[in-house]
Amino acid sequence: MARGLDNVLRQALLVVLAAVGTAMITATNPGAVARISQKGLDYACQQGMAVLQKELERIKIPDYAAKFKIKHLGKGHYNFYSMDIYDFRLPSSKIILVPTVGLKLSINNSSVRMSGKWKAQKSIVQTSGNFDLNIDGVSIFADLKLGSDPVLGKPTITCSGCDNTINSVRVHISGSKLGWLIQLFHKRIESSIRDIVNKEICKVMNNSVSSILQPYFQKLPVKSKIDGVAGIDFRLVKPPIITTEYLEIQLKGEFFRISNPYPPPYTPPAMEFPAVHNRMLYVGLSEYFFNTAGLVYQEAGILKLMLKDKMIPKEFGFRLTTTFFGTFLPQVAKSFPDMFINLAISVSAPPHVSMQPSGLVLTPILDVEAFAVLPNTSLAPLFLISTSAKASLEISATCNRLSGKLKLEGLLLELRHSNIYPLPVESLQAIMDYVMPTLVLPKINQRLQKGFRLPMPDRVHLYNLMLQSQHNFLLFSADVHHD
Ligand SMILES: *[C@@H]1O[C@H](CO)[C@@H](O)[C@H](O)[C@H]1NC(C)=O
Ligand SMILES: *[C@@H]1O[C@H](CO)[C@@H](O)[C@H](O)[C@H]1NC(C)=O
Ligand SMILES: *[C@@H]1O[C@H](CO)[C@@H](O)[C@H](O)[C@H]1NC(C)=O
Ligand SMILES: *[C@@H]1O[C@H](CO)[C@@H](O)[C@H](O)[C@H]1NC(C)=O
Repeated sequence: MARGLDNVLRQALLVVLAAVGTAMITATNPGAVARISQKGLDYACQQGMAVLQKELERIKIPDYAAKFKIKHLGKGHYNFYSMDIYDFRLPSSKIILVPTVGLKLSINNSSVRMSGKWKAQKSIVQTSGNFDLNIDGVSIFADLKLGSDPVLGKPTITCSGCDNTINSVRVHISGSKLGWLIQLFHKRIESSIRDIVNKEICKVMNNSVSSILQPYFQKLPVKSKIDGVAGIDFRLVKPPIITTEYLEIQLKGEFFRISNPYPPPYTPPAMEFPAVHNRMLYVGLSEYFFNTAGLVYQEAGILKLMLKDKMIPKEFGFRLTTTFFGTFLPQVAKSFPDMFINLAISVSAPPHVSMQPSGLVLTPILDVEAFAVLPNTSLAPLFLISTSAKASLEISATCNRLSGKLKLEGLLLELRHSNIYPLPVESLQAIMDYVMPTLVLPKINQRLQKGFRLPMPDRVHLYNLMLQSQHNFLLFSADVHHD
């Protein structure tokens, strides 16, 4: 009996372990990760305070009316009206990271300056004046909960808790005659305004989050079009992660083909960030990100180029003609006398980039097919070679744009097919060693130089940019400026 139960438990445990194992295998890594450091949150807080201050200054204080009855003086009534907050100062604020919970906004030592009018009436005597009211030592705490919208992949934010305390409220009444009398009631008016302001502050906090911050998050670009072929998917793959040191946002980080988006057959590797926090923003772009770019462009068939003689500057000693090629390959000149040659260059497999602390390494395989241009403009195939090279990709960042520069080292040729006999591969090597760096590479780099714009919210600029190649990813650090 006991033994049977033991077996059942063991089996149950195995099932659970298998389920956990499967879940862990299917949990995919992000293709891009953005980390916002405390420094970044400090900057965001500072920007947010300017907005919050305006919202708080819009708090409306309703008119206040009360009756009084005093021995020897008799009965009367007074009103406070036209009350206006003209200054809500927020001198000390910070955003605190509360691991796994969210963010906490803490504001201390705030002060409020208000002005208004009062009037009082006792039997037939009516009098009025102005008043100033100072509220000091206001502390505000708000809990901000971050999440992600699973459909749109955008971050969400809600104000999940709010509290505030007011240290002192002082009213200064000025005006003739009954001013001194109104002064007698200062405690009542002070506590009434304290209650109103107390209540309104948290309403404003909640409202600012739901009607300013949340819509701002909803407008963040998470899918952006790069050109006619490709777009980048930067949707959140899970809710933001909060640690004691940073806020981390995990993003899909993959290129997709606009006309035919489908999940790429690659999986993103894990990214291990170094522990540095002197910049506001750290973005890790996985090699997965770059490889999906290569896949999309290769499959779209645009990674190809037809080199023609007229594209070669006159001053080059090199011509794409059968006569010129004849100096290396006499058979070409003999079979196709006095014709132009076209070189069709294409990437035969998606270029694969590998990132290491030493740099980015690429092993592109380029197919080069040579054709003779017949007098009737038909193309006669001459030969097809595959060239593989060890290439290094240098990525640079300016403002919100990433661009690249490719360098080729050592070209290896493989003859795949030929209509020319004999075809000495050493002669082809000499031709390709010349053609690749002088004619093909500049064309590739022209495109890479244009690069692409990183999807950034409007009016956000990056500076102090730094790029570092890490194991499996490119780490991009920057400070942020919002204007
Ligand atoms: C405000 O005061 C509280 C309590 O003294 C403290 O925990 C918090 O860090 C302060 N916040 C700021 C922004 O100074
Ligand atoms: C609040 O302001 C007072 C005086 O201006 C200062 O002494 C105090 O340290 C401040 N407190 C905080 C938490 O910033
Ligand atoms: C905060 O705002 C939301 C949306 O407007 C509302 O549903 C919620 O009740 C508000 N919470 C508080 C505490 O006022
Ligand atoms: C062009 O000429 C070649 C050889 O003379 C011939 O084989 C080919 O069919 C011609 N092409 C066209 C489009 O006339």
